[in-house]
Amino acid sequence: MNKYYSAVRMLSFPEFNNGGFIEVEGLRDIPFEIKRIFYIFGKGNVGSVRGKHSNRKSEFVLFNVNGKSKVKTIDEDDNEVVYELNKPNQAIYLPKMVWKEMYDFSEDSVLMVLTNEYYDPDEYIRDFEEFRVEMKKMVMEEENS
Ligand code: TYD
Repeated sequence: MNKYYSAVRMLSFPEFNNGGFIEVEGLRDIPFEIKRIFYIFGKGNVGSVRGKHSNRKSEFVLFNVNGKSKVKTIDEDDNEVVYELNKPNQAIYLPKMVWKEMYDFSEDSVLMVLTNEYYDPDEYIRDFEEFRVEMKKMVMEEENS
């Protein structure tokens, strides 16, 4: 497993005020400064697969603040790992370059995404074979440096 995939992890946040209150601080609770937040929600996502991309610069933290969904990571050797997001105090951290797919959205799913970059479509890799080539090259260059 390369260093990007071994850094994928679930984050768990304490609930304050006897539950029902979560606080998230950039650079403290999550490993980057937050530049952008977006939400994926609505019945239109039920049965759909979102994501299916890798990002050359963006790192992400995803929370299901309501409902549930799954996140699948796939590496350059086709190894898959599935994570379930089903509690508002849990999140997943995805470093840059990790290929991700979000699916199995419940009707009431509200998936909140925090990231360290402004939106830039040019830093997205949307073709898996292109991702595989870039990732293998990066891993090889790092092994040789
Ligand atoms: P896309 O990255 O395909 O979404 P997902 O990863 O959830 O499947 O983006 C869907 C559309 O929204 C696409 O037209 C680009 C646009 N978009 C923005 O304008 N800003 C953003 O921050 C994001 C994530 C997407």
